[in-house]
Amino acid sequence: MSQFERRQWQITERPFRPCDLPHTETIYTIGNGLYGVRGTFEEGYPGDTSTTLAAGIFNHVEGELVPELVAMPNPLELIVHINGETFRLDQGTIMGYERVLDMQCGTLSRGVLWLSPQGTRLRLHFERFASLHDEHLLALRVLVQPLSEGTHTISIENRLDGNATNPGGISHWGAVQVGADAETLHFIGETNQSGYQVALAADLHVDGAAVQCGADDQSGNRAGNRATHTATFELAGNQIAYVTKLVTLHTSRDGDDPLRSALDRLKIARASGYSVLKAAHDSAWAAAWDKMDILIEGDEVAQKAVRFCMYHLLIAAPHTDERVSVAAKTLSGYGYKGHVFWDTELFIVPPFTLADPESARRLLMYRHHNLQGARDKATEAGYQGAMFPWESTDTGQETTPRWTEPHPISGERIRIWTGDNEQHISSDIAYAALQFWRWTGDDDWFAAYGAELVLDTAVFWGSRVEYNAEAGRYELSMQIGPDEYHENVNNSVFTNRLVKWHLEQAAEVHAWLQAERPADGQRLSAALGIEATMIDHWREVAARMFIPMSDENGGVFEQFEGFFDQLQAFNLADYTPRTKNIDWMLGQEKMQSTRVIKQADVVMLMALLGDELGDHDFLLRNWQTYLPVVDHGSSLSPSIHAWVAARLGLVDEAYDLFIYSATIDLEDHKGNVHDGIHAASCGGVWQAVVFGFCGLRLTADGVTVAPCLPEHWRRVRFTVQHKGQPVTIDITPEGVA
Ligand code: BGC
Repeated sequence: MSQFERRQWQITERPFRPCDLPHTETIYTIGNGLYGVRGTFEEGYPGDTSTTLAAGIFNHVEGELVPELVAMPNPLELIVHINGETFRLDQGTIMGYERVLDMQCGTLSRGVLWLSPQGTRLRLHFERFASLHDEHLLALRVLVQPLSEGTHTISIENRLDGNATNPGGISHWGAVQVGADAETLHFIGETNQSGYQVALAADLHVDGAAVQCGADDQSGNRAGNRATHTATFELAGNQIAYVTKLVTLHTSRDGDDPLRSALDRLKIARASGYSVLKAAHDSAWAAAWDKMDILIEGDEVAQKAVRFCMYHLLIAAPHTDERVSVAAKTLSGYGYKGHVFWDTELFIVPPFTLADPESARRLLMYRHHNLQGARDKATEAGYQGAMFPWESTDTGQETTPRWTEPHPISGERIRIWTGDNEQHISSDIAYAALQFWRWTGDDDWFAAYGAELVLDTAVFWGSRVEYNAEAGRYELSMQIGPDEYHENVNNSVFTNRLVKWHLEQAAEVHAWLQAERPADGQRLSAALGIEATMIDHWREVAARMFIPMSDENGGVFEQFEGFFDQLQAFNLADYTPRTKNIDWMLGQEKMQSTRVIKQADVVMLMALLGDELGDHDFLLRNWQTYLPVVDHGSSLSPSIHAWVAARLGLVDEAYDLFIYSATIDLEDHKGNVHDGIHAASCGGVWQAVVFGFCGLRLTADGVTVAPCLPEHWRRVRFTVQHKGQPVTIDITPEGVA
């Protein structure tokens, strides 16, 4: 691979700028779907947020509004001392520094040339990976080389600290034990509400020098919940030693005795050795990229940024567990407390459905396993069927907070309505299941699981819709569409139109089951209480669902009733450029009566249903109507706009929106990347390239493309799976291969 090609897999930081830490900690997260480790330094740095989060390990501390992902003990801690001085980047002089995330093999490395306060020169090279081959394993290795003359005493402290807390000092741990024997450190803890057990085991090995090792077990009291091993050795000037730290993590989600499993696995890993572990990890990444990579030639920024988005989806999506999903901010930060939103089904699942259907299936199964939570929610609200929670965790119950935290000065709390009224999520999930079925052709899966997702959510809508006898139509009041600046609106066009589509599909799914899978059809009809009259009702609702339209611009969708005649016009351009979202500037209340929208709403509908909604002119009129009033106040917005713009042939506009979303975290456009990666945007970027610029569709004739590439792109190549067969799309200005 040439230097140029290699660069397109690497995100490099040079020189070190402490003020960038909150940003780089997030973007340099490593992970493997089981856990994510933010890119903090092994030795720490003042003010850092060293965080390790494990998929599905949620806990709800009394007094807190909602459950959240639990901070694990930091597996990275490793302190290097030279001649009694401690290596830290906030002390001494940094003579050289480079940090590289190699996305091709999911490995983060850091090279440092350091001059200690007392004048010793030291070269260190750190490398770490969260094994994609063995998801319970984290490995890190440090090259240590004193560059000053003479003999140097090096000591390496390997620590395991059981005092991990979440932001705000919240401790989710009940009983915790930390211990050490001659070779191994370990931690075992239990979360204090959800009762998950988590175990970590760690060891240290030095190559290239003779070591004296000492155990220092301080597991006596809670405050001193830290175990340390110190390896001390001598190195002459220029001599090199390699220090390897291996850590294993197991939880009661994957077995009954996590500590035993962590210790056993550590033993096996130790026997393999770092190079063998790394080689297995690299091959697992190569296999993952074979499925997910999009090659873009002619645009280095786009190439790297798209890979960055895919890298973060690959380290966030579960590779084995189908009872967890992808958090809105992945496992790279505390934003949204690790909760799962519609972001998964409409932004993250589609790339997997097409490129790696096994991963998509796991994510869809997460919803299937959590149907009970959705049924409970529907029942509590007085409806039938399954009404999926807006925010979901490990239990499948609704976990959207009902109120904001009290304002620090006024103490005021604002009601959050999304958990009650952002109901479109149930159709979003049905959409993802149907899309998976169409692409994979996996009738067995669909009959066994997918159909239930589609049908039980249809049962919900059948009971939820309101009949307006005067107008002779079905309506939905008190909704929140994707545009969360306007809450509790009547007849959100996004929701109503998607529900119409959903009920039509559900009726067809029912008919398909009866014809092709009668046993499953009967099982589901009996379990979900579906009778012929209910199917008639769905068809009737679909036919008479109110779809608000307006004469604006010669005829467009009306985002919701009253959008054009009751809201005040507002010129967003007057507030450009801005670093904050417009709701922050104008206040939430004012937004309700202002014609500015948070994110793709009608445009989101256009992305999902496309030509089914109308001809090119109609779609273009909608685009022209809604683009000027969108704030892109959510990171979910620009990529969807890019996709739709490309479909409409507006390549320049599409490219600007695409490149903005592709670099949303790399460049921290939203100013909040310290909270974690914007996972939905990552998935949206993939869709903007594949469905937008490449115009990929699944038609009766199979997979087709209608490319509309940015002028400077010389080539786009990727592979999708259609009914179990790989289809490689290779587009150049000369044509499609
Ligand atoms: C967006 C939602 C999204 C959520 C989590 C909100 O700001 O408006 O659409 O689901 O963030 O990413």
